[in-house]
Amino acid sequence: MAPFTLAHLSDPHLAPLPKPRLIELAGKRALGYVNWTRNRHKYQRREVLDALVADMKAQAPDHIAVTGDLVNLALEAEFAPARAWLDEVGPPDRVTTIPGNHDAYVRATFHRFSETFAPYLAGDDGRIGFPSVRRRGPLALISLSTAVPTLPLMATGTLGRDQLAALAEVLERLAAEDVFRVLLVHHPLKSATRQKRMTDSADLLAVLKRHGVELILHGHDHIHSTMWFEGPNGNIPALGVPSASALAHGRYPAAAYNLFRIEKDNAGWRCEQTVRALGTGFQIGQIKQARLI
Ligand SMILES: [Fe+2]
Repeated sequence: MAPFTLAHLSDPHLAPLPKPRLIELAGKRALGYVNWTRNRHKYQRREVLDALVADMKAQAPDHIAVTGDLVNLALEAEFAPARAWLDEVGPPDRVTTIPGNHDAYVRATFHRFSETFAPYLAGDDGRIGFPSVRRRGPLALISLSTAVPTLPLMATGTLGRDQLAALAEVLERLAAEDVFRVLLVHHPLKSATRQKRMTDSADLLAVLKRHGVELILHGHDHIHSTMWFEGPNGNIPALGVPSASALAHGRYPAAAYNLFRIEKDNAGWRCEQTVRALGTGFQIGQIKQARLI
């Protein structure tokens, strides 16, 4: 079997932010808008994102996963440009996306993400909903949604009981098959801060401990991250990436993406990670290579 390459990028926070209508700035968005105009616009850069995506395409991955936060304040006017951007990344059969907290920023536009990105979210059965499953090469990509509108200053995520129960069923079914299971989820499974955490991550960890997956990919924290979680046959790697549009600032690194080379030999699955990141002069280069499995 030829190796399969999966690229992972996250949190593009697409710029520029369209000018909000006054009525859209009530409540949570008001704070978010001030934050964008004072700070975030300085380091979430479209030209960085374009350079990163160009480099990723040059690597010719077999599939691309984009784990949420495509938009910023979930303004009506943000969704069409975000869809146009994702269409440039690749067609829906080669690109899978899931929502992040910024894509479900407020109740008013909570449904927009699913409408806008339907072909990129749909499972192989054509259904839009979570969990969804897409088979690509030796992979089963299992998408989750933690995206729920939250109060101002909160960036938590929640899966909910129904999604967790359905996930357990999906994983039980897949365990009987010879597939490399990749879980896509916006929020990391362990968070340093209460305001940014996945509220029911303990329940997700219990499902994974029982049923297992081979790899977990997430975004949200905008940092390089490798964590390991208990599975039924050893530990499961969980990888996070910086924002795909970020200039380095404060404790946040410059934009980067991961490439996973996945293959099976007589000893079982092999998965190798390559990290490619923005360097000086908008050059993208390899900064790390590691064998995960
Ligand atoms: Fe996020």
